[in-house]
Formats: sequence, C-alpha cells, structure tokens
Amino acid sequence: MGMEARSDYCGKLTAEDVGRETVLYGWCHKQRDLGGLIFITLRDRSGEVQLVADDTAPDAVRETAFKVRGEFVLKAKGVVQLREEANPHMKTGAVEVALTSLEVLGTSKTPPFYIEPNSDVNEALRLEYRFLDLRRPDMQNNMMVRHRVTKFARDFFDQEGFLEIETPMFIKSTPEGARDYLVPSRVFPGQFFALPQSPQLFKQLLMVAGYDRYMQIARCFRDEDLRADRQPEFTQIDVEMSFVDEDAVIEINERFLAALLKNQLDVELTLPLPRLTYAEAMSRFGSDKPDLRFGLELKDVSAHAAGIEFAPFVRALATGSVLAIPVPGGGTLSRRELDGLGEVMKTYGGDTFAWLVKGETWRGSVLKFFDEDRRTKLADALSLNDGDLAVLVADPDAERAQTALGAVRLALADKLNLIRGDEVNLLWVTDFPLFELDEEENRLVAKHHPFTSPKDEDIPLLAGNPRAVRAKAYDIIYNGNEIGGGSIRIHRPELQEQMFRLLGLTEDDAEAKFGFLLKAFRYGVPPHGGIAYGLDRLVMLLTGSQSIRDVIAFPKVQNSSDLMTKAPSFVDPKQLLELGIAIDQEKEGC
Ligand code: AMO
Repeated sequence: MGMEARSDYCGKLTAEDVGRETVLYGWCHKQRDLGGLIFITLRDRSGEVQLVADDTAPDAVRETAFKVRGEFVLKAKGVVQLREEANPHMKTGAVEVALTSLEVLGTSKTPPFYIEPNSDVNEALRLEYRFLDLRRPDMQNNMMVRHRVTKFARDFFDQEGFLEIETPMFIKSTPEGARDYLVPSRVFPGQFFALPQSPQLFKQLLMVAGYDRYMQIARCFRDEDLRADRQPEFTQIDVEMSFVDEDAVIEINERFLAALLKNQLDVELTLPLPRLTYAEAMSRFGSDKPDLRFGLELKDVSAHAAGIEFAPFVRALATGSVLAIPVPGGGTLSRRELDGLGEVMKTYGGDTFAWLVKGETWRGSVLKFFDEDRRTKLADALSLNDGDLAVLVADPDAERAQTALGAVRLALADKLNLIRGDEVNLLWVTDFPLFELDEEENRLVAKHHPFTSPKDEDIPLLAGNPRAVRAKAYDIIYNGNEIGGGSIRIHRPELQEQMFRLLGLTEDDAEAKFGFLLKAFRYGVPPHGGIAYGLDRLVMLLTGSQSIRDVIAFPKVQNSSDLMTKAPSFVDPKQLLELGIAIDQEKEGC
C-alpha cells in the first residue's frame, strides 16, 4: 500500500476547516496524558496543531497515543473541531483534531534538547545534532527566507535579461586573497585543482564570450580565519554585465535591493542610495563599512594636540594624527567602561587612547596637558557641552587611528544604546584604493582583486604613486555589514599586464597563473563589471540572526570543521596512495 496523501499542513488548519476530515504527517512535539484524555502536539514545517484522543476515540488510537513520545513520526487522521478553550499562543490554537486513526511511522530517542524556538542550547550541541536543530521553527523560518531570497534574486535578474550560467568547482589555483582549498588529481599525481574563491575569472570570460548579462547563485570556498560573518564555504549572488560603468551596475543593483527589501521586510528604500567615498567613510566613521544608524562622527583634533608635550601625541603627530569623537552625555560612563573602550582600541592596533569630560571642572586621562585655553578650543571644535565626553585616539599611522577609533565608535554606540535597531540602512562605499600594502611582505596587494580597474583619471599615478590610485570599486553596506562588493574590470590587456607587474608578478608568473585570461583578453573584450553579494550575510540580516551559521543548513565551526559529520577526517591510506600523496607525520593530528 502506498502512502496516503497528506491533506493539510499542521500549521495551516483554522476554524474554517472545522467539521472536515484531515490527514496529517509530522513529529510529536509533546504528548500529555490526562487520564481519559490524551493530547499530542503535532509539528511539521508549517507549524503545530493539537491532536486529541478522548474516550470516544477508537481503542487502538488511544493505545497508540498513549505510547507516543517526543519526536516520534506520526500519521494522524481525524476531524477538525473547535477547541473548548482556544490557545491564543498557538497559531492553530482555535482548533484541534479529534483522532480517528493514529500510526507511528518512526520512533525517536529522547532528543538532547527541546525542539523549540530560540532555545539557548549550546551551539556545539545544536551543530552536532543539526538535523534536530533544523527542526526548530526559527531555523525553519531562516531556511525558508533563504529560499525566498535566492528565488527572488533569480527572478529579478532573469527579468532584467540575465542568464544563470554555472561555472566549474574544480579550477586552476589562482588565489584571490585568501588561501585556496585544494583537490588532488588522481590522473595527474602531484597536481591539484582548487575550489573557487569566487567565479570571478569565469564570469569575466563569459563577458568575453558575449553573454553580456550573467548571474549565478555560486558556491565559494576560502581557507581563511572564520568569524561570525564568515564561513569557509559560502554562497554568493554573483552578477556580471558588459558595456556598463559604475553607475549602471549600482543602478540595477539598488533596484534589486529595494525590491528585495520591499518583498522581504516591507521596507521602502529611497533610491538612489547614499554613497560615501572610501576616504570619507574612513575619516568620518573610521570604517569602510560604516554603520550609519547612529552619529558619533570622528573629528581630526591634531591641530588641538599640536604642541602638547605628551609623548604619544608627539609620536602620533610626527606621521599620523590625533582623532576624537564627541559623545553627548558620555560623561556618565564609568572609569571601567572607559578603560574597556581603551581595550577595544588596542585590539584594533591603535597606539594611545585618551578621554576628557567637559564640566565646571573637567575630568580626563590627559587633563593635565589641556590648559584652559586648549580646553575651550577643543570644546568649541567638538561642540562639547557640560557632561559631554571626548574620546581620543592617537596613532602614528593616520589610517590606523581611524580604524581604531572607528571600532571605539561601534563599542560606544553599543554601550550607550544608540543604534536605531528598527532602521534598515544601506549605502555604497566607492572609490576604494586600488592597492593596499602587505606590511609583512612590504609589497602591494590588490585591495579588491587584481582585475579591478583603476579610475581613469588616476591611471597616470600607477607608475609613480600607485598607493594613491583609486579603483572603480564599490561595496554595498547594510547596517554596518559588507553584504556585497564589486568593480568595473580592467578590459585592456596592457593595463592588466601592468597591474600584474605592480603586484610583483613577473611576465612568466602572470602567464603561468593567468595565461588563459591574458589569452582571452587578446580576442575582443567588452568593457564589463559586476558585483557579488554574500547571500549568507544578506539572509542573516534579513532574518535578524546573530551569525551566518544560523542561515546555513550545515555550517562549519570556527576551526572549519563540521561537528555533525566530523569532517575533515583521515582517509584510507589506499586513497592517498592512488593520489601519490604522503602525509607529513609531524603535521598529522595537529
Ligand atoms: P568579495 O571577496 O568582496 O568579492 O566577496 C563578495 C561578498 O561575499 C561575501 N563574503 C563572504 N561571506 C561569507 N563567508 C566568507 N568567507 C565570505 N567572503 C566574502 C561578502 C562579500 O561582500 N569576485 C568578487 C566580486 C566581484 O568583484 O564581482 C568577490 O568575490 O558579503
């Protein structure tokens, strides 16, 4: 006999269904035996409904209902009836199902945690039993939102004429910034494929091939240190277009975001979205992904610190700066809280933290260096009133001063509860530097990736002052999170070759690594550019989740391992032999 078809999802039954027979499948959330009356709460992915076996129920039903335990899989048949007393806490609380038949399709051990929303169960346990964790309603909601966002993206870009084209997972190792995950080749012992860090080069080649508008829901792999918003394998909504400039890419993408936010959160974005240049984002907010849901802007007070005989200020002003944030009412922060902000600054590599509170009598860690005249000038410059705090960061590196004070800014907003929690704030950050300095190796590396185009007006600076060159690159920021980034690409082979040279690649290196791209670039390349969104991050924000792990069905933990399957794992020595791989015994088990 086959499976009888389900007639309803548990969570969908309402008073309108009263009197009708229903066939349900699901898991037992709870069973309560009140003697004459047995109640079962049945759960499926739509929600829950109460089943009841009273003394009019067939004996067989009562017997089975009696034996049912949490997480047993059940087939339930019965008639929908109004409850004597409605349960206002349950979506289906007006009704219940009077059982006429009940079958146990699967039994269950007692689960290690309750299947309930927002349970504060230890995350390691949740991940080990992810198949149970995924039964929890909040996780199911996250998976459904993820599905809808993915579908929305596909539909939106389809309507705009984009084609979804899959790009390979086994590719040539061409590190983009992070470390590659490698896949050994059996056919070519000693040789490796890499898993793509993104489809970057392939989507560019699709532009060379004339596909004009491409998108893909693309898996990406990066062997890098994990954080709450990073996973070793993650998903991008990846987009590329030909014959466009920055404005055209930004225009279509903000229409996408506005439509998505309207669809998902019923939020109306005002277009065009605000844009800040990188330089402005750094100088005003100390971050290239500024959270604009609160103020606390940075001010340069170097002029007010000049001439002060305080070694950290002298040191900072020689090559860097002294920056400040005026904090209205911040004088209420305790000494310990201020020390905490100093610690935050230190973790971001800042040199010196200081503070001052304006009042009838001023207080502050550097008060003795600020005579009355300096105090008045500083108060004027920062518009301080009595009871206001000024936090200061001094650093010999101007950008580090910004970043460190930017981190203090976030900590302050958190401490003072300044973040407007219900606001959805999106903006573009543009005009990133083309290069940044790899301090360890003292060489230039691409800030975005080596295929990003310099701004036309900055091309003459490439030869003499590459660090001053700005890129045609843009990031999209959502409540202080970088949810996407992209650029207009280099499409002239000579410029691409010059870029490789500046990055320290010899002609031979460039040929060995990117020969296929350079070859393609000799066969008619359209001007092109694009963007990629971190789908996981986007869904994390849309669902209000704290971590991207909560929007990925089977995520990895901090050390990139999987607590459920226990991957990675040792493999059969025969497999290694076939691949011609020997394991360094010293590294093994590290
Ligand atoms: P980028 O490296 O900036 O650009 O990545 C684009 C977006 O992907 C998300 N992201 C991640 N999400 C989760 N875990 C990670 N480890 C992770 N790394 C990145 C971020 C980021 O904004 N090929 C280019 C795009 C382009 O130029 O078109 C690229 O991959 O949200």
